[in-house]
Amino acid sequence: ESVTLSLMSEAVSAPTECEKRVCVFGTGDMGRSLGLRLLQAGYSVMFGSRRPQSCNFLPNGAQVLSHAEAAQAAHLIFIAVQREHYDFLVPLAYHLKGKVLVDLSNNLKKNQYPEANAEYLQSLVPEAEVVKGFNTLSAWALQNGPSDANRQVYICGDRAEAKQVVLAVATKLGFSALDRGSLSASRELEDFPLQLFPLWRLPMRIAVGLTAFFFFYLLIREILYAYITQGKDISFRIMVSLANRVCPIVSLIMLALCYLPGVLASFLQLYRGTKYRRFPDWLDRWMLCRKQLGLLALGFACLHVLYTLIIPIRSVVQNGTNEFITSRAWHSDSYLSFGILGFGLYVLLGITSLPSVSNALSWREFSFVQSKLGHLTLLLCTIHTYLYGGKRFLSASLYNWYTPPGYMLCLVLPSVVLLLKLLLVTPCVDRNITRIRQGWEKGADQ
Ligand code: HEM
Repeated sequence: ESVTLSLMSEAVSAPTECEKRVCVFGTGDMGRSLGLRLLQAGYSVMFGSRRPQSCNFLPNGAQVLSHAEAAQAAHLIFIAVQREHYDFLVPLAYHLKGKVLVDLSNNLKKNQYPEANAEYLQSLVPEAEVVKGFNTLSAWALQNGPSDANRQVYICGDRAEAKQVVLAVATKLGFSALDRGSLSASRELEDFPLQLFPLWRLPMRIAVGLTAFFFFYLLIREILYAYITQGKDISFRIMVSLANRVCPIVSLIMLALCYLPGVLASFLQLYRGTKYRRFPDWLDRWMLCRKQLGLLALGFACLHVLYTLIIPIRSVVQNGTNEFITSRAWHSDSYLSFGILGFGLYVLLGITSLPSVSNALSWREFSFVQSKLGHLTLLLCTIHTYLYGGKRFLSASLYNWYTPPGYMLCLVLPSVVLLLKLLLVTPCVDRNITRIRQGWEKGADQ
């Protein structure tokens, strides 16, 4: 269980002279940047080095001592060296007894070693108190100081007192520390910097898969069809018309995919009659990447709007009878207006999902925007597409090679999600789900 310790840190008293002395082993980029920040925060910093006389480019104000001297002089020691060089600590074991060692190291790939670096360090100097921490920061972030994006540092270790010492330093440097538990969690912390946008992976795959599918689907049923059956070459349409079909179709499906897991979760809770059972892993993973799904969907919607800007939009043409023009104008103006309203809310959803904005909202405000306005966005975009289809839904001539047009296919999922949501908000179902969310359990009354 993660517990934020930053609040507790306020209770930490002002550091004593001994606590103000910290030692850094390692004079590479990371060690130097950390030393600089520690000096700026008022600590007296000692670098431990194999060759203290030949150490250059260290921050002004830092002392350079031999490893043994530095280890004796401070209670808190940052280990900013590669795991392969940890052996030098073994002869220092006597001086490191009871000291807090912060392991900053990272690996080049996952599962590079049988055990985590911090656990290995602990096995080399069993009488020291090893804490894993600060490894998710870059030397650059340390030099420039924390900004919103990288305020968080993670720590883990077996001794609460040792973690408190590291936490106090992290807070003094302007970071907020999150306790990830015992030292056995250090492998997880060491894997963090190796992850590349983990929550974006699934949404990206979905986006690429849907784009490829609809691109080829529409290419075959529109452009190839015209070429084969009528001998017409309309391949130029790939660039704008086809793109302007694929983008909104993918966007609408991905928007529906954002709201489908929430609806499924509600039905699962209704079926189980409790909120205390875990959701299946696949549903958990899906729910966790809803924000990324939504932002990608918004990106596709923006492309659709940009493409739309370059084609003459309103179909109020003057070459028919009056009645004909009016009905066409109604049709195009109404689907466009729903598109614009939907897009406006879509952008609002995107903006409120940004941390700097969502942090300013209460939980109630955030869930109102993301849930109520989110479903309304889906509804408006779905109506936009239904209206765009209009009478064409009934026209048999559109089913080239017996395949339905793209906009019909893409309406299936949003329609299902909206129908399920409608079911959930009917008073009797809503009453049940509210009871369950308040802690009621099926069978508990008897
Ligand atoms: C189709 C305009 C927002 C989904 C269209 C078309 C236009 C249009 C002109 C017809 C394109 C064509 O004939 O090829 C607009 C405008 C918008 C907007 C002006 C807002 C400023 C949205 C949004 C969505 C969306 C937010 C939802 C994701 C669709 C879909 C189609 C469509 C699925 C049918 C694509 C097809 O198969 O041809 N829109 N739209 N639109 N729009 Fe929008």
